Amino acid sequence: MTEITLTQPDDMHLHLRDGEELAAVVHASARQFARAVIMPNLTPPVTTVDLALAYHRRIKDCLGGKSDFDPLMTIYLTDETAPEEINSLAESEHVYAVKYYPAGATTYSGAGVKSLENVFPVLEKMAELDVPLLIHGEVVDEDVDIFDREPVFIDTILIPLIQRFPGMRIVLEHITTKQAVDVVKDGPETLAATITAHHLLYNRNHMFKGGLRPHYYCMPVLKRERSRLALVEAAVSGHTRFFLGTDSAPHPVTRKESDCGCAGVFSAPVALEAYAEVFDQQGELDLLEQFTSFNGADFYGLPRNRGKVTIRKMDWKVPGTLAFPGGEIVPLMAGQTCRWKLIENE
Ligand code: NCD
Ligand code: ZN
Repeated sequence: MTEITLTQPDDMHLHLRDGEELAAVVHASARQFARAVIMPNLTPPVTTVDLALAYHRRIKDCLGGKSDFDPLMTIYLTDETAPEEINSLAESEHVYAVKYYPAGATTYSGAGVKSLENVFPVLEKMAELDVPLLIHGEVVDEDVDIFDREPVFIDTILIPLIQRFPGMRIVLEHITTKQAVDVVKDGPETLAATITAHHLLYNRNHMFKGGLRPHYYCMPVLKRERSRLALVEAAVSGHTRFFLGTDSAPHPVTRKESDCGCAGVFSAPVALEAYAEVFDQQGELDLLEQFTSFNGADFYGLPRNRGKVTIRKMDWKVPGTLAFPGGEIVPLMAGQTCRWKLIENE
């Protein structure tokens, strides 16, 4: 029997939603991760430190004092964000970063930034106070092919942004292409990236295998096999500026299996196990802990966790569906066999 004990991991990119949905999903993350960077794309979005602190309280209340899970809050950058908000953020106890969605890039991003020039004063303040900018790195121009949105973003927005604000900490979120891997590797120490489990496990063929598979549909959309291989290589390389961010994004089955299905993969129930599978396939389990538990904390300037988690190599079948308000939800690897299992208080 193979077992591995790791420093408790952090999820550096997580959607927890709100209300009954929050209650339905938060435990899936809290049982494995010590901390998670919580995305602010609620409706309406979490645009201020006060709203982020209220959301933090709702998440903690939902856990009912039984868990030490620490939500690392973010605020949603809009054309109207005031530079003073960054002062409050830098002083706040629970808010750590600002999330930049280009308007219209993904689910619940309608309030995002229309033009980066509009927020230059905010970015100047962030660079000054060392507040990280978390980027959804895709352009939204109609004439850019959906599979090219990330590389075009890197060339036309990210590189000029780094040149204009050198020293600003940036996390390029949920990267999907070799261009993204390379820009991080070649970039400054202040540039890092999160990688999801689903982009490590699947390519775009999975989305169309024998029919249209909405549960593989997410933003940024799954790419070619050679892109997946570039991500796997980066994740297992031991490079310190790539780290775990699940982008677990729950939507009820009715919103996924629909005429206009939502983007988002609900990976939280199998997250650590799915990453373990990738590192195991590559024969690099020794580097798993660095990716799941050290790199993210180090980049954010947080202490490494002291708690431990244990995973065991054993087959188990992931449920096809789980309970969710208004019906059911389909998790990542639904109905499939997972080869690693998180061991809980036996
Ligand atoms: C996310 C969601 O549903 O909130 N969806 C997704 O496909 N990743 C939004 C996002 O992070 O892009
Ligand atoms: Zn996301």
